[in-house]
Amino acid sequence: MSENETAAAKALVQAQFGANAAKYATSAVHAKGASLQRLVDLVRPRPTWAALDVATGAGHTALAFAPHVARVIASDLTPEMLVEAEKLAAARGLTNLTTAAADAEALPFADGSFDLVTCRIAPHHFPDIALFVSEVARVLKPGATFALVDNVAPDGETTPGFTKTELRDAGLAYNALEKIRDPSHGRALTTAEWREIVSDSGLAIAHVEHCPKAMDFTGWCKTMNVPAATVPKLEAMLDEASPALQAFLQASRDGETRGFVLAELILIARKAG
Ligand SMILES: C[S@@+](CC[C@H](N)C(=O)[O-])C[C@H]1O[C@@H](n2cnc3c(N)ncnc32)[C@H](O)[C@@H]1O
Repeated sequence: MSENETAAAKALVQAQFGANAAKYATSAVHAKGASLQRLVDLVRPRPTWAALDVATGAGHTALAFAPHVARVIASDLTPEMLVEAEKLAAARGLTNLTTAAADAEALPFADGSFDLVTCRIAPHHFPDIALFVSEVARVLKPGATFALVDNVAPDGETTPGFTKTELRDAGLAYNALEKIRDPSHGRALTTAEWREIVSDSGLAIAHVEHCPKAMDFTGWCKTMNVPAATVPKLEAMLDEASPALQAFLQASRDGETRGFVLAELILIARKAG
């Protein structure tokens, strides 16, 4: 991506999320999704830790870790999202959560600042995910933890029984579906791509699992204010999904109610101590 394209992608993120920020404060998928408590359980945070949550949105991940660490910075590219995170922190009486404007690909923090960096359901918006992970590795202290959750595209790990070509095409179609719903969607990587990027950054992968996430189609559209004229296009993409994409998304329909399932990757990695 050229510099201009990267800047345009980030401006689109700020426009999309700025306009829809309040919805993320109450979104059940974000506020209550199973991956949130699972992440806390897997990380086992300590009361002395300094934590950073990258692309915090309305702050749900930072809010979940705040009671377990000394302090947490909830950071995001979109100022309206930070306002939502501040409101939720105040409502919960959390005094150890602060917010910071920060681009995931150029974190404004010194090397070796944090015991924990979290990032949940966001990297699929970043133009250069490898650059983001290298920034995470830079700001972690030796021995510290990176805890990631993101929607992934299908590959043999999530969707066995299909050829590489079928899975690649299903991944392209899945990312196209996401991009039509939210133009600021960049690309959801496969689990294999995540393993490679994290390992290439020098972090050691300690744990990988997938967490299925049931999505209500109408709510998914409403969160991003999908224009009414676009909805039938998304419905048709689900109806016409290839066998590999259907095995991945498990799209269902009960009258007017449509649903599908996304796969969240949970990955824990550590910096050498
Ligand atoms: C779905 S929300 C995040 C959800 C949140 N992490 C949670 O656990 O509820 C995606 C967020 O990514 C942020 N974002 C996208 N690109 C970014 C970037 N390059 N740097 C920092 N934040 C970014 C958006 O502003 C948005 O707030």
